[in-house]
Amino acid sequence: MMGTQVKERLKTKILVDGGDPEETRRMKSLLGFVDGQTTNPSLIAKNPEVQHRLATGHKFSLEEQEQEYKRIVQQISPLVGDGGVSIEVFADLKTTSEQMLVQGQDMFSWIPNAYIKYPCTHKGLDAAQMSVSQGIRVNITLCFSQEQAAGVYAATKTTKVPVYVSPFIGRLDDLGENGMDLIKNIQKMYQAGDGHVHVLAASIRSIDQLLACFALGVELVTVPTKVLEAWAAKGFPMPDQDFIYKGVDVAGNALRPIPYRSINLNQPLDAFDLRHDLTKKGIEKFVEDFENTIRQSVSVR
Ligand code: E4P
Repeated sequence: MMGTQVKERLKTKILVDGGDPEETRRMKSLLGFVDGQTTNPSLIAKNPEVQHRLATGHKFSLEEQEQEYKRIVQQISPLVGDGGVSIEVFADLKTTSEQMLVQGQDMFSWIPNAYIKYPCTHKGLDAAQMSVSQGIRVNITLCFSQEQAAGVYAATKTTKVPVYVSPFIGRLDDLGENGMDLIKNIQKMYQAGDGHVHVLAASIRSIDQLLACFALGVELVTVPTKVLEAWAAKGFPMPDQDFIYKGVDVAGNALRPIPYRSINLNQPLDAFDLRHDLTKKGIEKFVEDFENTIRQSVSVR
């Protein structure tokens, strides 16, 4: 199949998971389209220009880093379709929801198609709640449990703008749990909802996971260039009716299934337990990667 025929056969929107506009351009010519893009502090730290400047001994001030992030997403913005460009706020475990909101408001003004990424914590969801009430589109990242996804639903229930939730497949697989089950469980749970939260499958590491997302009819996927290139090299295969996701780790061992839980979506946000160790670790890793690009060890806002 040619890249140009891919779009017609897909229900799922494809976003590029990266921090380099050059990659986005390459993926656009490979697939014939790119629906959107997700970025995060680790991906921005890996941007070739950022890396080049770091290699010359340069460390960024907070303002320079912010300008750099803005410059990168402004280049990506016109290249993508209606999936938009997700921009992540800089938050450590102490950052308040108001501090996140101030950043989100600013970042939302950088480009016309921004989605603001907040972590799936109580503070992140408070910031998301305030954001959607101001018409700011959000993408709730670092989601690792069905209950967290229920929290995203509850926090944004009154929204008139689209909301994304990003469940991370690969990082659950790394723990031996079947990350695809989380996607399936959230989709099933949301069937009882009003459809205002859109599932954006993230942390995709293999063609198999990508095909499993297509087979499930996931609304959006964000995919690293490496996986898209591998998929293209195989001629853009699609899952057929008999497609079965293997759900194995790199050694071929079966991943542990994640059972479905019956959760009432129509509860207040406070009713949900949003704690997950991987969310905490994810925030810490983003902070670490971000701070490595900064002039001295400064605490993020
Ligand atoms: C995208 O929004 C996520 O930040 C990304 O998919 C994380 O992927 P990783 O788990 O491979 O870092």
